[in-house]
Order: sequence, then C-alpha cells, then structure tokens
Amino acid sequence: MYRLFPALALTLALPLAACGGGTRSEPPLAGARIGGPFTLTNQDGQTVRDTDFAGKYRIVYFGYTYCPDVCPTDMAKIGQAMKQLDKEAPRAAAKVVPIFITVDPERDTPAAIKQFVANFHPRVVGLTGSPAAIAAVAKSYAVYFKKQPPGPGGGYMVDHLAVAFLMGPNGEPIASLPIDKDGPAIAEQVKHWVQ
Ligand code: NI
Repeated sequence: MYRLFPALALTLALPLAACGGGTRSEPPLAGARIGGPFTLTNQDGQTVRDTDFAGKYRIVYFGYTYCPDVCPTDMAKIGQAMKQLDKEAPRAAAKVVPIFITVDPERDTPAAIKQFVANFHPRVVGLTGSPAAIAAVAKSYAVYFKKQPPGPGGGYMVDHLAVAFLMGPNGEPIASLPIDKDGPAIAEQVKHWVQ
C-alpha cells in the first residue's frame, strides 16, 4: 500500500501560479494532469462515462474489494465523511459523488463491487472495466498499481497507491483528501472546496 502524496511529484510540472499569485483560494492540484475521460461499468452493469458526472464534484478512490485492510478502511472514512456532510451541509453533500474504481478488474465484477460499495454510503458509484480500460484510467489519475504473485491458496494482493482525489464539476483536480486521517478531516476539506 502506498501513500505517497502525488502533489510532491507534480509540483515540478505545475504552473507557478500555484505559489506565485498569492491567492489562497488556488486549489493545490489546480492545473495538475490528473483525471480525464473514461468509459467504465458501474455496479449495476451500466456503462458510465466521466461526462456522466458533469456538474458534480467527485471523490475518486482506486482500490479493490479483496483488499484486506486499507481499502475498506479508506472507503469507510469516505463514507463517514459523506454521512457527516449529509447532516451538516446537505446542499454541498448533494453535489458530491464518491467514486470507487477497482484496480482488480479480474475479480471485481459489477456484482462484487455492488456488495462492497453498499457498505459505505448509498451514493458511492463503483466502477470496473476491462483490464486495458482500468490501466488507462489509473494512469490518467497517476495511480500506480501492480498485481502481486498469487499465494498458496491462489489468492493475490494488488499493490496500489491509496489516494482520494477531490475533482471538480468539470473533472478538474482540486485536492488530495486527507485519507490518512479520519472522516471528519475529509469532510472538512470537502466542505472547504465544494461550493
Ligand atoms: Ni487496498
């Protein structure tokens, strides 16, 4: 499991406006090459494109349902943040869609993902796709993942970057949410950026 903060690596590629303008409202990931078009399949087997989320903020997290600990923990934090926002800031919460994208498309069928995401929040959209489509979308979000050799029972782990991106209503990157902290910390950041 990797928790490298991608903004560090991105800093070099960012325009100077992020630190030169002195505008506190500039999102940390403004201008970063994160995100892009995708065509995937949701937990109900329907085709979903990035453009289907136009006008919505998105919390994008990559993981896999067989993940023994970190993915379910992180998704629980996102779910907790969403439940808190539903109560404290319902108008903002209604503009946010949490999106779980699998890095294990071989095992994560729509049915498996449906069962998984239902644990966290009713509005989580779970996405899977062909191995090529998953590789492409992970690459566009700068999310590293690698299937590990199978263990004696045939099961395997997938190493992956554990990061939750907050994306804006036009699919633009805004910030990396504090997934290493807790639900309230994530909710606070979402409230800060969602208008
Ligand atoms: Ni995981």
